Parts: sequence; structure tokens; C-alpha cells
Amino acid sequence: MNNNIFPTSDILQRADKETLLKQKGVCIWFTGLSGSGKTTIAIALEKELHAKGLLTQILDGDNVRAGINNNLGFSEADRTENIRRIAEVTKLFVNCGVITICCFVSPTKEIRMLAKNVIGEKDFIEVFVNTPLEICEKRDVKGLYAKARKGEIKDFTGIDAPFDVPQEPLIVLDTNLLSIEKSVATIIEKLKL
Ligand code: ADX
Repeated sequence: MNNNIFPTSDILQRADKETLLKQKGVCIWFTGLSGSGKTTIAIALEKELHAKGLLTQILDGDNVRAGINNNLGFSEADRTENIRRIAEVTKLFVNCGVITICCFVSPTKEIRMLAKNVIGEKDFIEVFVNTPLEICEKRDVKGLYAKARKGEIKDFTGIDAPFDVPQEPLIVLDTNLLSIEKSVATIIEKLKL
């Protein structure tokens, strides 16, 4: 780290913001294949929490990659940098008392560990959106699986790039068994929101 950098410390604290908002900050981190339903569930979850008077922010792969991370691709190094920046941004939101809902493929154990370490273990709720590859590929909402199969996209998660199944997520959503509403209800119940 640069020796000439002096992070400020005498700023208002997280507890001050949480008291103001009357809620606790937390990160709900969705991991799963492209097309597994992460963003769809996040949007429904956010609406429900908003209706309960809770302040939320969704961060989602496609949006973040169109903005702050628009210089990154899908190599292992770029995915790591993608998640590192997102985790730092998430930490800022969580420290403001915001319920931060992250939707990122975050395909490897190492990448998810990085996110957890930056955000802090107690604030990091890992939710695995467990939709089988066959179903994601059949849906192919964005047409990306077809392109990946034709070799028009390289390093596509699940096709020619790995997805490590999360070993100990706090919540697993089996979306072929659960409706969107049920998935949302499962999260709200588990986190007592
Ligand atoms: S991550 O691997 O770095 O966590 P992220 O969640 O930001 O990925 O972005 C994934 C989204 O980018 C997918 O939903 C898909 O729309 C798009 N995408 C484009 N190329 C790829 C690729 N090679 N692998 C996975 N997703 C891709």
C-alpha cells in the first residue's frame, strides 16, 4: 500500500447510520450460473423488503460490468478483480446500514472467499441459486449459452469455464422446486428480516 495514504477514521460510524435507518446492514450474496435466477429473485426480494420499510441496494453483474467494471472481462484474473471491487463497494453500503443484495456468478470458491473476507464473515450471507445447467441453458434468456456452444464466447461459466458448487452456503434455493415467492420467503424467514 502507498505510504502516503491516510484513511480517515473520525467519521460517523456504522452504528450511527443503523440507528438512523432502524435496521442492520448486511450483504445477501447470490451465487449461481448465468440465467439461474439470481437477479429475478433479488428484484422480488428487494420489493418485499422495501414494502417492509427496509433500505436496500441491488448490485448485479450485468449492471456493474456496464459501469464501474466496464474494463473487465471473464478471465480468472478479471473475474477476481470484478468481485474484489464489488466487495469493496458492498462493504461501503453495508457500513451505511443498507441491506445490499449482490447478484454475481462468482464461480469459484476462491472468489467467494475473497468477497467474504472483504465484506466480513458476519455480514456475508451466501445464497446459492441452485438451478441446473440444463435448465439455465434451456431458458437461455440472453442467448449466451447458444453463443458459448458455438464457440462465439470463450470462458463461459458452466460451458468452458468452471462453476464450483458452494460447499456451505447459508441458504440453497432449489429453483426447480421453489417459486420466486417461496425463494423470497425462505430468505426473509432465515434472516428474520
Ligand atoms: S463473475 O464470474 O465475474 O462473477 P458476473 O456475475 O459479473 O460474473 O457477470 C456474469 C454475467 O455476464 C452473466 O450473467 C452473463 O450475462 C454475462 N457474461 C458474458 N460473458 C460471460 C462469461 N464468459 N461467463 C459468464 N457470464 C458471462
